[in-house]
Amino acid sequence: CMMREISGINEMEHRLKSLLNLHEIVIVPGNSDESPWVKEELGRATASSMKRRLKGNTTIAVTGGSTMASVAEMLTPDLTSSETLFVPARGGIGEDVKNQANTICSKMAEHTKSRHRVLYVPDQVSKEVYKSFLKEPMIKEVLTMIKSANMVLHGIGDAITMAERRKTSEADYQKIIDGQAVGESFGYYFNEEGEVVHKVPTIGLQLEDLSHIEHVIAVAGGSSKAKAIRSYMKSAPSSTVLITDEGAAKALLKG
Ligand code: F6P
Repeated sequence: CMMREISGINEMEHRLKSLLNLHEIVIVPGNSDESPWVKEELGRATASSMKRRLKGNTTIAVTGGSTMASVAEMLTPDLTSSETLFVPARGGIGEDVKNQANTICSKMAEHTKSRHRVLYVPDQVSKEVYKSFLKEPMIKEVLTMIKSANMVLHGIGDAITMAERRKTSEADYQKIIDGQAVGESFGYYFNEEGEVVHKVPTIGLQLEDLSHIEHVIAVAGGSSKAKAIRSYMKSAPSSTVLITDEGAAKALLKG
């Protein structure tokens, strides 16, 4: 549209797409660090990107976070006419209830009149308890659904912000600091080179599963996330679609 051309957003999308080696990028106006309504715009843009891609029955794996929560708010029953199932991408990785993948999946299902499943895995359990969890038929069933997802929606966060927001143990926190992590996604912490320096051990989707998934949509905005986005994109599958905002885009292009 006219607005996008005047503000130079189309050109920014073009430059950022080749800089980050992305399949597709959408930049919404504004900076979500400064204006809360920008997260709603990220949500709206994600909804329309999903709509364009959804054909036939789809299982959508979703991560947690406030950005994903605003995506959930923007979904409507006309998202798709086919069967859709929302599942959390991974087991518990320490978010508040409203920002947990389980909660977000149930919101997404409610707003689109589709189905969802939950995966409750506590964060701090012994290896033995963890192993017996994996034998539970209900958990096994959800894990199978996650592994067969054909769309993934995920957030990206600043590494230190995420380590602090989660109940990260002192040893792991130190590992994140020592590894000079700047970005986080799916419970993986990345340094500036895009190397994994720490991983939150949990069941569900693993980083290596992403390359087998047809549609991967990453949603992250705000100038404070520029470093995080850059680091994550270094190891992200090339099929990734990035939905971001002007704040992050400008900071990324500045380098
Ligand atoms: O904890 C789930 C998660 O998706 C992280 O992987 C990501 O770093 C974070 O949430 C993003 O949260 P927010 O959208 O609130 O910045």
